[in-house]
Amino acid sequence: MNKNQDTADSLRNLTVDIASLMPTNNGNLFNIYFDNGATTPPMESVVKAIEEYTPWYKYVATNSLKADFLSSLYERGRKTIKRFVGANLENDIAIYTKNSTEAINILSNVIWMRHYKQNPVVITTYMEHLSDYLPWKFRFETILVDVLPDGRLSMQDLEHKLWQYRQRVKLVAVTGASNVTGYVNPIHDIARLAHQYGAEIFVDGAQLVQHRTVCMRTADPAEHIDYLSFSSHKIYAPAFSGVLIGPQKAFDAALPLYFGAGMETFATDYEIKLKKSPARYEGGSNNLLGAIATSCALLTIDQTGMSAIRKQEQDLLAYGISLLSQNPNVIIYGDTGYLEDRIPMISFNVQGKTCKETADYLYDNYGLITKNGLIGSNLYVQKLTEGTPYDGVVRVSMAFFNQRFELDRLAEALMGFQ
Ligand SMILES: Cc1ncc(COP(=O)(O)O)c(C=O)c1O
Repeated sequence: MNKNQDTADSLRNLTVDIASLMPTNNGNLFNIYFDNGATTPPMESVVKAIEEYTPWYKYVATNSLKADFLSSLYERGRKTIKRFVGANLENDIAIYTKNSTEAINILSNVIWMRHYKQNPVVITTYMEHLSDYLPWKFRFETILVDVLPDGRLSMQDLEHKLWQYRQRVKLVAVTGASNVTGYVNPIHDIARLAHQYGAEIFVDGAQLVQHRTVCMRTADPAEHIDYLSFSSHKIYAPAFSGVLIGPQKAFDAALPLYFGAGMETFATDYEIKLKKSPARYEGGSNNLLGAIATSCALLTIDQTGMSAIRKQEQDLLAYGISLLSQNPNVIIYGDTGYLEDRIPMISFNVQGKTCKETADYLYDNYGLITKNGLIGSNLYVQKLTEGTPYDGVVRVSMAFFNQRFELDRLAEALMGFQ
């Protein structure tokens, strides 16, 4: 067994075994899980942490040392999150949310409350997931930055729109990495441009933080990422949870979306005083296990090393693209010659087949789990497939635990699909 295979095997052991048997048209087959862009399987370490703390759950609302300890884990988790994304430990806060969608809605409301009197504009892009488009669209005048024919973001168009709407642009909201083509956006270059025009930047990190080291507060403040969010269920931590990170000052100057117990320091019939952030954004009972799972996953990623993860994922991406490129019936979206800064994701169609026909065939006959359709990025997929008979894509989204033999199975399946 060679060293690369050893590394791939040890990475595979980090997550729970997802290759369970399932009955299909061709009898029992092993699952091959290629839908990590939607949700990742939990890490073994995360499952252990949840098992360890679940029995403690009955103490949550009690006046006991165990309740205090759980609360301290919840609070400590914020530090783990901030360290992981290179936030400022003093001035930035990490708010626990349900998922990325909720995080972006909270932020949209915060930005709105700060700027609504100034006829504000938010610039976002054609590359976004709807969760980083609709929360802006329903509150602000929203301007979209175009993509180039190969699907990459047009930096020229971004600069043009920043100039065109100068003074009114309060925020640039951009995805860290596309959930369709896998392109990683140059977030620090975008930050520099946004700041130059007096706007802040929000990065949707749902597809970024599990694949790349992120540093919000770089040495040069001009390149800082002001706000960032991500989803725990996409970083190997189930128990639905997400995070929104940004400067405490900005959150203290606004109000949350939800109101309820736990967010107040004082409440009577005639006077209400809210706690400072993040507590004012977390009314009601908290998702303690979600928070514990999130920090545990981040610590495991740290221990494993992002460079080992990236190396394995880069190998899978290059291997997958080279295999699928050999099939004349497969149309791959995005520049297949550009693998440099892409997360391990391949979106494609098979000539003459709908994306659903392809995905059903792969699942029913080969146990391959993919995603198909507009996959949450309606505007982007419509751009990529414009003028063709296809109205969606099939997406294979990989993670560090996937292996080359799984891509061999995909390539073999597609060769036999006429
Ligand atoms: C880029 C991107 N942003 C946001 C989301 C929304 O994440 P969630 O469903 O966890 O809110 C997704 C989900 O796939 C995504 O891919």
